[in-house]
Amino acid sequence: MYHIVMQHIHGRARWAFFLAPLIMLGEVFCDLQQPTLMSEIIDQGLSKGDLNFVISHAGLMLLFAVLGLIFGGACGALGSYASLKMGEALRSHLLTVALNDRQAGSLPPATLITRITNDVTQMQNLVMMVTRGLVRSPMLLIGGVVMSIIVCPDLAPILFVVMPILVVFLLVIVRLSVPKYTAMQQSVDHINQIMRENLQGAKTIKSYVLEDHQHADFTTSNQHLQQTSQTAAMATVLLSPVIQLMLNLGVVVALGYGGQLAISNTISNGQIIAFVNYMIQITSAMIQTVNIITAFSRAITSATRVQAVLDMAAFQVAPAQVAAVADVKPHGSQIEFDQVSFGYQQSRPILDHVSFTVPDGQWLGVIGATGAGKSTLINLLTRRFDDYHGTIKIGGVDIQQMALSTVHAAVAVALQDSLLFSGTVRSNLTYGRPDATDAELTNATAIADAQPFIAQLPAKYDAPVEQAGKNFSGGQRQRLNLARAIVPTTDILVLDDATSAVDQTTNAAIKSRLREQRADKTTLIISQRVTNVIDCDQILVLNNGRLEAIGTHAELMQQSPFYRQLVTTQLGGAPDANA
Ligand SMILES: Nc1ncnc2c1ncn2[C@@H]1O[C@H](COP(=O)(O)OP(=O)(O)O)[C@@H](O)[C@H]1O
Ligand SMILES: [Mg+2]
Repeated sequence: MYHIVMQHIHGRARWAFFLAPLIMLGEVFCDLQQPTLMSEIIDQGLSKGDLNFVISHAGLMLLFAVLGLIFGGACGALGSYASLKMGEALRSHLLTVALNDRQAGSLPPATLITRITNDVTQMQNLVMMVTRGLVRSPMLLIGGVVMSIIVCPDLAPILFVVMPILVVFLLVIVRLSVPKYTAMQQSVDHINQIMRENLQGAKTIKSYVLEDHQHADFTTSNQHLQQTSQTAAMATVLLSPVIQLMLNLGVVVALGYGGQLAISNTISNGQIIAFVNYMIQITSAMIQTVNIITAFSRAITSATRVQAVLDMAAFQVAPAQVAAVADVKPHGSQIEFDQVSFGYQQSRPILDHVSFTVPDGQWLGVIGATGAGKSTLINLLTRRFDDYHGTIKIGGVDIQQMALSTVHAAVAVALQDSLLFSGTVRSNLTYGRPDATDAELTNATAIADAQPFIAQLPAKYDAPVEQAGKNFSGGQRQRLNLARAIVPTTDILVLDDATSAVDQTTNAAIKSRLREQRADKTTLIISQRVTNVIDCDQILVLNNGRLEAIGTHAELMQQSPFYRQLVTTQLGGAPDANA
């Protein structure tokens, strides 16, 4: 945990983090002066009627009070600063890691959200607490004990009875409550997850009439949270009254026994008062210590959960590292895969020694069943993953020699399921090219068959798009998504199942318009449907991560039984390439 905190406190925040506890020493010192000063006022001022002494010492008390306030305020300000800066740095680090996640889904979004918000807040609280309390409580405790022994050695035995009882009691409380706080955190996480699933899946839940089931699940989790919170709270609630009781008993004994001693003139009234005040300081320091320990335990749970997110970075290539390689520009748009093998997990290879070449300007169709590795091929081409074996070249240049921005300037991809973001139609269409003109947008949307419905929107390109494109139908979203990939007119265009939600006739129209537009530009059409790839210059047949065959439709019909089988199942015969 210390490691996470230190990693995210830099520069001035780090100074503040270490300076704050030092300043706190000042406040503790001032606080410890008060009871002694008061006893002196009583013993040497009031009882002897020395008004000057009373006034000068009262002034001194005021001075220490003001100084204490200043020290306390400064410590608080520095502590908040350090804690806010730490939270800011940690959150942005977590967000970067989460966005770069390659294992997509290794931590569900619900957990990520609680970790980035709630858990970071816990850690922020801890930094705050630590800068203030870590020095204050023990110092006040030790200082209080030492001072009371110095000021009033005769009453010290009372402390030696009261303190051990309190310490044992506090340890019991800590033991009881700490595991409950851990359990609480887990419950909160689970509830968040259920909430999220319910809200996102509201339609599915309704259509399968799962409301009762989901509700029962939710209720169970809530009850669990309630029980753990109750036990944790019980322990904490006991804390204050028990300590007060012990304190008051101690005060009664101090007054009674001290009174006896005072009558026999062994100690003075002022000493008794000072002793009582030190006892109050000591017990309040103890309560603070318990609070810090619980905050610590909560923060440790949070830190472990935050660390798990940070650990995901081990599988990621830092963007800085990617940018650091020399940036070579491709010469043309030929694509070469040479003996490329890859697996998302070491244990499970997805692509197995795949080699092929798409000459400049050719159209390549990629066909294969779901899970064959088609999209994985594109993930590698766009450098979403770098830990593959073999070589991938664009325009004769190894893509590892190119900056990510160069790769993305060369290749545009329309995915089956890519998201629209909240904004406008225009803002969604111009991700790949912020300066695209309306004419270019119209050209792209016409190809993608998005014109008909955009034309009906009152605000046209400035029509609003809601979160995740909710205000458009699935087919409309896919058309916008396709247009978005066409707008930048890159040398290479990849359509990865990008027309699956579009009907056959429209699909054919889109393809023929695209053909006109990109007659001499390298284009990859990825699909499960033979009709989508049948007229490509080459068709690559992918079967379970292996390259089954590559060639024109006619060649494959002759040479590949696997392809022939595919065609027969889908088309029921052997159509010619113009079908
Ligand atoms: N990010 C990922 N992490 C782990 N496994 C993945 C990931 N993406 C895809 N896979 C797995 O890789 C295999 C190939 O997936 P994919 O290339 O998407 O297939 P296709 O596009 O041909 O349907 C599938 O078995 C899938 O479960
Ligand atoms: Mg796919």
